[in-house]
Amino acid sequence: MPQKMSVNKLQEGLRTRRLGRSILFSREVDSTNKWAKKLAIDGAQDGTVVIAETQTEGRGRFGRRWVSPRGGLWFSLILRPKLHPSDTIKLNFVAGLAVAKILRELFSLNAETKWPNDVLVNKLKICGVLSEVNSTNETVNFAIVGVGLNVNLDVEHAFPKPLRENATSIEKELCRKVQLEEVFKSLLEVLEDLYRVLTEKGFEPILKEWKRYASFLGHQVEVTDLAERLSGLALDVDHEGALLLKLEEGDVRRVIVGDVTVRAE
Ligand code: BTN
Repeated sequence: MPQKMSVNKLQEGLRTRRLGRSILFSREVDSTNKWAKKLAIDGAQDGTVVIAETQTEGRGRFGRRWVSPRGGLWFSLILRPKLHPSDTIKLNFVAGLAVAKILRELFSLNAETKWPNDVLVNKLKICGVLSEVNSTNETVNFAIVGVGLNVNLDVEHAFPKPLRENATSIEKELCRKVQLEEVFKSLLEVLEDLYRVLTEKGFEPILKEWKRYASFLGHQVEVTDLAERLSGLALDVDHEGALLLKLEEGDVRRVIVGDVTVRAE
C-alpha cells in the first residue's frame, strides 16, 4: 500500500509565486475537478490547487471514468487566465509539457506528449489532463486544469484489465516508489514557468517545445471522437492546437477534438 500523502510536505519549500499559494487537500473526494469548480464559483483565487489522495468519481475526457487509487497524483488547478475562451485548449499543452519535462528531468524517463493532452512513457499512458472552462461571452471566468499522474501505482493490481494494458506509472517504470510530494512540487514549479510563458509570450514557444516531445507526429494514427474514426498521417499541430491529419485520400483535415492511437506500421 502506498504511503499516505503528507499535507505539510506538499507546500514545504514550494518555489512558486502563484500556483499552490493556496492548497486544499482531501484524503478522498469525488473528483478534484468538481471540487475545484465549486470553489472557483465561490471566488477561489487564481492559482488555487485542490489535491486528493483518492477520487471516487475521477473523470477523464469524453466522460470516461478515471481510476484514482492512493499513490497517484490527482489534482486540479483553478486559473483565471486572460485568454479568449477558445484559447484555453492551450492549457492542456502547458500541463502535458510540464509533466513530460519533469518525468525526463527528475527520473530520465522516456516521456512523450501525445495530442491533445496525454503523456506517455515507453508508449504507455502515464498522465492525462482534463481542462474545463467557464466563460461568459468572450471572457473566461475561470479554467480548471485537472491532472492525473500515475506515480506510486502498481498498475497490474490498481487498474482493471483493459486499462492496465495501456497504462504505466513512475513506480512501474523505475521499479521503485518515489516521493509523491516532491513530484507534485516540481510539477507545480514547471507548470508555473510554462503558464507564464503562455500568458506573456503566447503559444508559439510552448507548442515548439511540446512538439519536441511529440513522437507521434509523422506517424500513421487513428483519431476517434464520440462521432467518428479517422485514419491518416499525423502531419502537425497548428498554432491553435488543432491536429493536422493527412487522410488516406490525400486531404488534410484539421481535427479539434479526439483521441489519437498510433498505428503499428
Ligand atoms: C484523460 O486522459 O481522459 C484525462 C484524465 C484527467 C484525470 C484528472 S485526475 C484529477 C482531475 N480530477 C478528475 O476528475 N479528473 C482529473
